[in-house]
Amino acid sequence: MRNIVILISGRGSNMEAIVRAQIPGARIVAVISNRPDAGGLEFAARHGIAARVLDHKAYPTREAFDAALAELIDALSPDLVVLAGFMRVLTDAFVSRYAGRLLNIHPSLLPSFPGLHTHRRALEAGVRVHGTTVHFVTPTLDCGPVVIQAAVPVLEGDDEDSLAARVLVQEHRIYPQAVRWFVEGRLQLTEAGGVRVKDEPAGSDGWTVPPVEA
Ligand code: GRF
Repeated sequence: MRNIVILISGRGSNMEAIVRAQIPGARIVAVISNRPDAGGLEFAARHGIAARVLDHKAYPTREAFDAALAELIDALSPDLVVLAGFMRVLTDAFVSRYAGRLLNIHPSLLPSFPGLHTHRRALEAGVRVHGTTVHFVTPTLDCGPVVIQAAVPVLEGDDEDSLAARVLVQEHRIYPQAVRWFVEGRLQLTEAGGVRVKDEPAGSDGWTVPPVEA
């Protein structure tokens, strides 16, 4: 069994998608929110998952909060920490502590549109293709090795909400997939700073770059 801790800040629909995927070999040991009012906490509790709150406002500094968060997480002995709409910039110390076992989902095709308001910025930029990325977390924000991406078209008449909804459908598909690969031990960080996925059935060398899906 691989122990997984999921960090959220809000509605937690990606967390929900991962829980609902019932990934063999994965045990969600806790869902932790930095906001007491995060909607996703209720879903977690209803599904028998320990739902914890660590309010960042109770800590004087980012460092102090991250240290307390790491302490809480480490007590759960996770193999993987999943950021699912966790709206906090993490300190380098925190990120380094979980190097190679910290995943994030970002609502754009990175490296395009790191940071906030990705759907609005995609519309303003006039791109025809937008999407979402699951990546390993490194100290630079929204910039780690890409595990899987899914692309969606930007359609005439789209607004932020319609585009976000189209992207979210893909988020709910690729995040459980990435977690499944991790749990199955099929993700390999390459020396070049990328990710390879050991594909099924094992081919000649067994490692392939995951496809971008439209
Ligand atoms: C998602 O769009 C995710 O990509 C971004 O924040 C949003 C979280 O949504 N990081 P939810 O809380 O998982 O519903």
